[in-house]
Amino acid sequence: MLGVCYYPEHWPETMWADDAREMAELGLKYVRIGEFAWSRLESSPGVFHFDWLDRAIETLASAGLKVIMCTPTATPPKWLIDLYPDILPVDIKTGTVRGFGSRRHCDFSSENYRRESMRISEVLAKRYGQHPAICGWQTDNEIACHDTAHSGSHNAKVAFQRWCEARYGDVDTLNSAWGNVFWSMEYQTFGQIELPMLAVTETSPAHQLAYRRFSSDMVVKFHDEMVDIIRAHAPNQFVTHNFIPMHDTQTDNFALSKKLDFVSYDNYPLGRTDLFFADAPTAQFKKYMRTGHPDFSSYAFDQSRGISNRGFWVMEQQPGPVNWARHNPRPEAGMVRLWSWQAFAHGAEAVCYFRWRQVPFAQEQMHAGIKRTDNSRAAAHQEVAQVRDELKLLAPFTEHFNGDLATLPLQAKVAIVMTTENQWVTEIERQGDSFNQHQVEFSWYSALRQLGLAVDFVSPAHDLTPYQLVIAPCMPIVSPAFVERCKATSATLVFGPRSGAKTAELSAVPNLGPGLLQQLIDVKVLSTETIRPDCYAELLLNGDQTSYQSSRWREELAPGAQVAILAKDEYQQPAVVQQGKVVYVGTLSCEGFLIALFRQLATQLGLPVWQLGSDLRTMQRGELQFVFNYGATAQQFVAPANAEFIIGSSTLQPYDVAVLRLS
Ligand code: GLA
Repeated sequence: MLGVCYYPEHWPETMWADDAREMAELGLKYVRIGEFAWSRLESSPGVFHFDWLDRAIETLASAGLKVIMCTPTATPPKWLIDLYPDILPVDIKTGTVRGFGSRRHCDFSSENYRRESMRISEVLAKRYGQHPAICGWQTDNEIACHDTAHSGSHNAKVAFQRWCEARYGDVDTLNSAWGNVFWSMEYQTFGQIELPMLAVTETSPAHQLAYRRFSSDMVVKFHDEMVDIIRAHAPNQFVTHNFIPMHDTQTDNFALSKKLDFVSYDNYPLGRTDLFFADAPTAQFKKYMRTGHPDFSSYAFDQSRGISNRGFWVMEQQPGPVNWARHNPRPEAGMVRLWSWQAFAHGAEAVCYFRWRQVPFAQEQMHAGIKRTDNSRAAAHQEVAQVRDELKLLAPFTEHFNGDLATLPLQAKVAIVMTTENQWVTEIERQGDSFNQHQVEFSWYSALRQLGLAVDFVSPAHDLTPYQLVIAPCMPIVSPAFVERCKATSATLVFGPRSGAKTAELSAVPNLGPGLLQQLIDVKVLSTETIRPDCYAELLLNGDQTSYQSSRWREELAPGAQVAILAKDEYQQPAVVQQGKVVYVGTLSCEGFLIALFRQLATQLGLPVWQLGSDLRTMQRGELQFVFNYGATAQQFVAPANAEFIIGSSTLQPYDVAVLRLS
C-alpha cells in the first residue's frame, strides 16, 4: 500500500538499480514516473527517445515494483512552445503572457496544446498500455494548479463566446441572465463578449461565474479526452489523477473525476497549513506548525473519498520540509507515519511519498525527499519503514475483507454537501473580507471531527438517505432537484448562512434567502451584515450557559410561527432556527458554538460522540479503530471494553498512532 514518486531522468543510470532495490526493501510497491519528462521523451517534433524509459521501467520491475506512468502534459517543451506560442496562457489579472521556464505554461483553449497533448498521450499509451510492469496511469499532474484553468488569451475569449452561445442560445437571454442592463453592459452579439478581466472595477458576478464554469468545462473536456485515449490502449490499467485540494481549485472536481477509476490526492499538511491558516493567532499557528491542524489532512482525505465515491490514493505525501509555502518547517518526528496512517484510516488505498531523493538542482532543491541529496537516509526513511512493518500487523484482521485494508468498510452517518461552484460564488461575491467559504466549511468539519463523528463529503446530486445528519455549511446555489433529495431523506438537515440565497445565474432569489429551502423551513433572510471577527456579538444556544460568538456574516432572520429558535444573539435576534428536521444557521460563529450545536443534534439523533480534546482524533473502519495524537504531550485514550490494541496502547505518546480491533 506504499509507493513513491521517482524521476529516473534526474539521476545517473548507475543509481537506478540500487534505488529500486532499496525502494522494495522499504516496502514501497508503486513508483510513479514520467509526469514532467516530455523534453526527454521527445527532443524535437516526432523524435522520440524511449530507450531510457524502457530501461528505467525494466529496472524498477526487476526489483518487484509496479509503475504508475504519467502523461507529461504539464510541461510542454521549449520547441513546442516555439512552434505554437499560443500554448502559453495569459494572466487574467495583468493581461500578460505567462511564459516558459517553469511548468503548467499551457492554455486549455489552445487547440495546438490540446492536439499535441493528446498526441503525446497516445504515443505513450500505445507503447506502455499493455506493459506488464505498469499498473496504472496518472493523467497530467495537478491539472489547473498554479491558477491555470483561467486564461485571458484570444483563444479563451473565442471559446468563451462559443460556450456562452451554447449555454444561453440568444444574446438577450444572456443579457438578462447577467443583468447587463445594469451599467449599460448589454451585448448585441456573442462575438462582442469580453472575458471578465482588466475592467475598471468589478465585472458582473454572473459574468464571472459563467467564465469560471467555462474554464472548468475546458479543463474537464481536455482531461476526459486524455482519459479516453489512455483507456483505448490500456484497458487493464487504472487511470487516476492527482487532485489539488478543493479549496484551491478552479475546476469542478466531481466532473473531473467522472471518467477516472479513483481520485488521488497530494498531501502536504505543513505547506498547506502555512497557507490556509495564515491569519490564525500565533499560538494556534505554532501549535500545529510542524504537524498540520489535526483535521486538515483528513478534511482533504474525506473530500477525496467523496469525489472518488470509493477509496482514494495519496499520490504525493510530504516527507519533510517543502519549498513552496511562506515558511517551510520540518515535521515533528512521527508525523510522516501519523499522516500515512491517518490517510489509511480515512479510506486511502495507497500512500506514495514525494519524492524518493531530494534533488540538488533546479526549483525544488530545498524540498525534502525520503533520501537526502547525498543519498543518505532522511528522517522520513525510518518512519516509512515503521509504516511498512505496522501494515503487516493488520493483515490478519483484514482477511475476511480480501486481506486488504482498503476494502474495510467506512460508513459515515454524517455528510457534508460540497460544490466547487458555491465556492466560486462566495469568492466572486465576498461581501466581507473575513468570509472565506473553505474556512467556514473546514470549521464545521473540524467541529464534527472533534466529536469523533465520521464525515462523508457528498455532491448535491448524491443520495442523502444513508445519513442521519446532513450539513451544508455554505450553499448559495441550490437546485430544485437537491431540495427534492432533502425531502426524501429522514436525516436532520443543517444549512449554514447564505444557503439558497442565489439563483443559478448568481442573482438574488425572488423570495429572499434561503430561497428554495423555504420549502423545508419557514424562514426568510431580511438583511445581511458582515462584521469584523473581533467585533462579534454574543451568541446564546438554548440549554447551554456558555456565551459564544456571532461574527463575520450575520443574517436578520424572520422565522414563521412554526419555527423554533435554537440560538439568539445578544440583541435577542434569532440566529439559529429549526422546523422539524431542518435547521437554518444564520450566522458564522466560533468553534465552541459549532461543537455545542452539533453535540446537541448528534445526541438527539443517538449518534455516539466522543470527548476527544483538541489533539486526539479517532476514525473507525470496519472492526478497526484508529487513534491519532497530534499533541506534544502524551494522551490517554479510553478504549471501549471490547477492544484489543494491535498497534500502540491506550497511552498515546506525542504524535503517536494506535489501532484497535473492536470485537
Ligand atoms: C506538487 C507537485 C509536485 C511537486 C510537489 C512539491 O504537489 O505535484 O510535482 O512540485 O508539489 O511539494
